[in-house]
Amino acid sequence: MKLNIGSLRLLSGIRKIFVLILIIFILCLVLLKISGPDSNHVEFLQVSRTNIVHIALTGQLTERHPNIFDRLSNITKSIYKHCEGGQLLFHVFTDLNSTIPRSYTDLILKLNSKFTNIKGFVRMYDLETIFSRYENVLQRLIYNYWDRSSIKNPSWALPFRSPIIFLRPIYYLLDELKDVDKIISPDSDMIFMADIYQLYLEFSKMNESQMIGMGPEFVYCDQVFKIYNSKYPNNEVVKKNHVCLNGGLQISDLEKLRRSKVFNYLITEEGAHKITDKYRMAMYLGDQDMQTLIKTEYPQFFHVLDCRWNYQLNAVYNVPFRLPCEAPAFLYHGNSLQRFPEEVYRSLENII
Ligand SMILES: *[C@@H]1O[C@H](CO)[C@@H](O)[C@H](O)[C@H]1NC(C)=O
Ligand SMILES: *[C@@H]1O[C@H](CO)[C@@H](O)[C@H](O)[C@H]1NC(C)=O
Ligand SMILES: *[C@@H]1O[C@H](CO)[C@@H](O)[C@H](O)[C@H]1NC(C)=O
Repeated sequence: MKLNIGSLRLLSGIRKIFVLILIIFILCLVLLKISGPDSNHVEFLQVSRTNIVHIALTGQLTERHPNIFDRLSNITKSIYKHCEGGQLLFHVFTDLNSTIPRSYTDLILKLNSKFTNIKGFVRMYDLETIFSRYENVLQRLIYNYWDRSSIKNPSWALPFRSPIIFLRPIYYLLDELKDVDKIISPDSDMIFMADIYQLYLEFSKMNESQMIGMGPEFVYCDQVFKIYNSKYPNNEVVKKNHVCLNGGLQISDLEKLRRSKVFNYLITEEGAHKITDKYRMAMYLGDQDMQTLIKTEYPQFFHVLDCRWNYQLNAVYNVPFRLPCEAPAFLYHGNSLQRFPEEVYRSLENII
């Protein structure tokens, strides 16, 4: 076969182009591998950071919670760590005569100087003062939504029979929060793994009737409606709304709650009595069961959050059914004193 000089040049040119394309192709593969979507990747929406995000935390030094400050400190660090910027106002309900107020203020000052795109503010309230000021309504809630449970509540559930547990459903009543329209209230046994502004965005997904956002309960659902279900085995109301709520995180539109005639009725003696009588529910987890019960009658009040916004780690109970929830968690819930994954603790070390 005869090749002239021209066609030889052409061939080596084609070879060069081929090699170049091959190099580009390999480079693309390498780049994709580095930055490409892995299974833990979540696309979040663009958020506006002009609003102040109000966060309510409760913490009381007790025998059950000797390390409560550590917990408050850890969740607060996790909020800063994952927040890309904005203004955060922490409403801390605690013992004003303990060391917590001083230490917590120091913590916020340090975090503010480390995370310069976040401005954090603190307001502290004395729990005992609030308990005595709102004693009537708190005792009414405890009586109706715990004492009047349809089963004899187990003794391990006694810590849930307390005003600190029932405070959250009535934040909207507190004079202390009069100027707050929306509030995010996580338990102190939670750790954020995503930007709190993304959670704040959930308020804008609520329609006119939805006032409270909570995630689904992963394990404790079968027993709560047992009596009602055995009385009305095919009852559509309970079946349709069977998803129970977990109380670890609640996001509350306080303005809507203040305006709601029905919700305000449900915290009166008459209203609470009526709804508890109707469903004969087992109620031992405090505000969580109260909200689950209310949701059964009024599902339109609730915006059920993605399970990843309350990712329950509790694995201590031997339960036949556990709601599946796909990783990654946006907000871990170390319920029943469950430890967080070790890398979560490591990520909180040396933040400040
Ligand atoms: C704080 O005050 C309460 C009463 O309101 C009391 O029971 C408690 O022991 C006090 N704690 C400290 C650390 O002084
Ligand atoms: C809000 O959405 C819920 C759930 O989709 C629905 O049941 C309820 O009727 C809606 N309320 C209004 C006022 O649109
Ligand atoms: C808080 O986080 C630190 C790691 O930064 C960990 O060692 C400690 O056990 C955590 N405290 C609690 C109460 O979870």
